[in-house]
Amino acid sequence: MQESVLSSRRSPPDPEEVEENGDESKTRKNTTPFATRVSKHASAALSGQCAAVLIFLLILLATAASFLISRPVVCVSPYDSLARTALFGATLDGLASDFGSLGVPWCRSKQGKVVEWTRKDLLKGLEEFVPIYETRPIKNNMYGMGFDHSFGLWFMARWLKPDLMIESGAFKGHSTWVLRQAMPETRIISLSPRHPEKYLKKGPAYVDGNCTYFAGKDFVDFGSVDWASVMKKHGISDLSRVLVFFDDHQNELKRLKQALKAGFLHLIFEDNYDTGTGDHYSLRQICDQDYIRGGGHSCFRDSDEARIRMKRKKFWEKAVDRDELCGGDEEWWGVRGYMRDDFNHSNKAISYDEHFQNSRFVESALDVYWELPPVAGPSLTHQTRYDPARASDPIIEDGRFGLFQRLGLARLGTSVFNGYTQMVYVQISASS
Ligand SMILES: C[S@@+](CC[C@H](N)C(=O)[O-])C[C@H]1O[C@@H](n2cnc3c(N)ncnc32)[C@H](O)[C@@H]1O
Repeated sequence: MQESVLSSRRSPPDPEEVEENGDESKTRKNTTPFATRVSKHASAALSGQCAAVLIFLLILLATAASFLISRPVVCVSPYDSLARTALFGATLDGLASDFGSLGVPWCRSKQGKVVEWTRKDLLKGLEEFVPIYETRPIKNNMYGMGFDHSFGLWFMARWLKPDLMIESGAFKGHSTWVLRQAMPETRIISLSPRHPEKYLKKGPAYVDGNCTYFAGKDFVDFGSVDWASVMKKHGISDLSRVLVFFDDHQNELKRLKQALKAGFLHLIFEDNYDTGTGDHYSLRQICDQDYIRGGGHSCFRDSDEARIRMKRKKFWEKAVDRDELCGGDEEWWGVRGYMRDDFNHSNKAISYDEHFQNSRFVESALDVYWELPPVAGPSLTHQTRYDPARASDPIIEDGRFGLFQRLGLARLGTSVFNGYTQMVYVQISASS
């Protein structure tokens, strides 16, 4: 039934076209009513052939023009980096969004293959997903996914159309619900130490009717499941038709190896933490290497990176400064030289050499690596947590409030945009 509801939804118009035709443009022409009035008066004077008035008006026009050029008379949002840069130069660069200005390391894949979807597809998806998200059963999903990642998971599950979805880390069941919205008829397997039904006693939770739960007393860790037998029981013979979603805060290198061993190809990691942050070793951390564009770090105290990081820390809660990034012996990889696992219940110091070898291993397994961009710039979402300097350009760029509003995003509370941590989709295969 749910499927017919979904498929009967009208095909959304292209929001980008709508934007081009009707958005409040940042580059709106600079004709002011004042200038219009001056030119009207000028032509009246001309028709009256009054040279003195014309000269006076021309001088007035020139003065007004130089005033407009030399002094900004617009209101400037503290989030609007372009306007602020124009006004203040580089002096307040810690405030600006500056997406990617501190580097966005990107894992290399074997053949450099990329995802099929485009920014236009993402925009179309957003238009469809916002009203779905508004019906979510768990409105306040603190410690679970917010809007950006919910959208990413829904979009990718719907695009890939798997025959089976596996999730590791369910919490109250929000991500199970998101998967269900993407694929109304597809079987889900959910692994989580605590069954989501337990949360129902205290408040909103989601328990799915077409899901095999390895939860509560039946919990088995992803790495210990006999996947060949579970796949057989679920009638799956082609593992390329299975999507695995990890939101269990386990070392992603460990999970990648386990998934490879089981033969899964399509994986999504919810928390793809940046270097120096998070409670588990992530693909983003692993691929943050000197030889990668946007990768590697400097621990020099008076380096540009240290200076910029110090400034940005004042504006973005999750930004890390040089002292948080670097250990006592200048270990910056992982989290200050540590490979964290299991919500940081376990962590192990690793050498730079080991970290480097890990990235080579990951590259040898990757066919595709794609980080979900943030949904919108902070001038729109008013998010204050993740530092845009370490993220790729958002789907909706700063300043495009018309588009943000048309897609219904302005209706959502600010807090739902605070949880972005570079969700990543990877396609993997064993190296030959
Ligand atoms: C961040 S929450 C998941 C949030 C959820 N995906 C959502 O969107 O609301 C992490 C979950 O992983 C569970 N967890 C802890 N260890 C795990 C393991 N080894 N395998 C699977 N889940 C685990 C935790 O109990 C918790 O429910």
